[in-house]
Amino acid sequence: TPLAAPDFTKCTKGTNLNTSQPLDVDCCPPVATKIIDYKLPPVTKMRFRPAAHLVTEEYVAKYEKAVELMKALPADDPRNFMQQANVHCAYCNLTYEQVGDSDLKIQIHNSWHFYPWHRWYLYFYERILGKLIDDPTFGLPFWNWDNPKGMAMPAMFVKPSSPLFNARRNQNHLPPAVTDLAYSGTTQSVDTTQIISNNLTVMYNEMVRNVQNLEDFYGARYNTGTQPDPGPGTVERGSHAVLHVWVGEATSSGEDMGNFYSCGRESLFFCHHTNVDRLWTIWRDLRGSKTKDFVDSDWLNASYLFYDENAQLVRVKVADTLDQQKMGYEFQKVDTPWLKNRP
Ligand code: C2O
Repeated sequence: TPLAAPDFTKCTKGTNLNTSQPLDVDCCPPVATKIIDYKLPPVTKMRFRPAAHLVTEEYVAKYEKAVELMKALPADDPRNFMQQANVHCAYCNLTYEQVGDSDLKIQIHNSWHFYPWHRWYLYFYERILGKLIDDPTFGLPFWNWDNPKGMAMPAMFVKPSSPLFNARRNQNHLPPAVTDLAYSGTTQSVDTTQIISNNLTVMYNEMVRNVQNLEDFYGARYNTGTQPDPGPGTVERGSHAVLHVWVGEATSSGEDMGNFYSCGRESLFFCHHTNVDRLWTIWRDLRGSKTKDFVDSDWLNASYLFYDENAQLVRVKVADTLDQQKMGYEFQKVDTPWLKNRP
């Protein structure tokens, strides 16, 4: 049986997965009595997701305004900035029991839920922001860390006066520091050219070389009755996880970006994951005539709950994430040098 959407009334305080201690924050969402099965609305205008290092000042102003308004919503509005951050915590930090197997908890990472769950999370986050500024074409920016031109933290996130700013970051990794996709607590090299070339190799390996079957890319199967953490795919385990650690504080338990419960408080998180979402799209395109998705109903019919831009609680399915056209957004086209730089 596929993983079923959690019952919000059975949410409990979770676990800090970095310290294995009970969380000192409660990240359970507001409970709603009415749940609607979500139908993708007809797409009239596509949302455009730009590369974060290429945006205009106008775009940044719009995005800042939207986040400011999101932070200003009442604290118990499910679209409020902190409520949205807690969505990540609740689905990751073992707060929900599995419907159908109450001995087990839900953790959508390290499994085949990684891509579809985050796609839905970004989808509603983006629609909430767009609604707040009354712009149905608003798209989240992507942190283009797979391209040398986008490898530093994007400028819009490091301006202290901006609502996109966050003080809880590793101060050694602010721009112009180039992300190190092989980072493991220490930087391997001081030579930027070397780091960039390693990064491109990492990307090639995760997207092409180390992917033989679908699980290699997506992560392992996780249904009702599966223990959390059956195993991540290449990107999730590699560049994706590394960047969480690279951005978060080195002096605490990784807050904000480097800890599951707190990363949704970091605007850069959404920029990071928009790139992960883009890499998923690129990977599917690279497959050509090879299978792009699992055909198992255990995957396609797995479901999650989210609050939409109207604060309505909706039930969504994995199957509906597979046609990005229908989800109504597109990415700015940029080079993928890692693909040409085959090691
Ligand atoms: Cu939900 Cu990058 O983690």
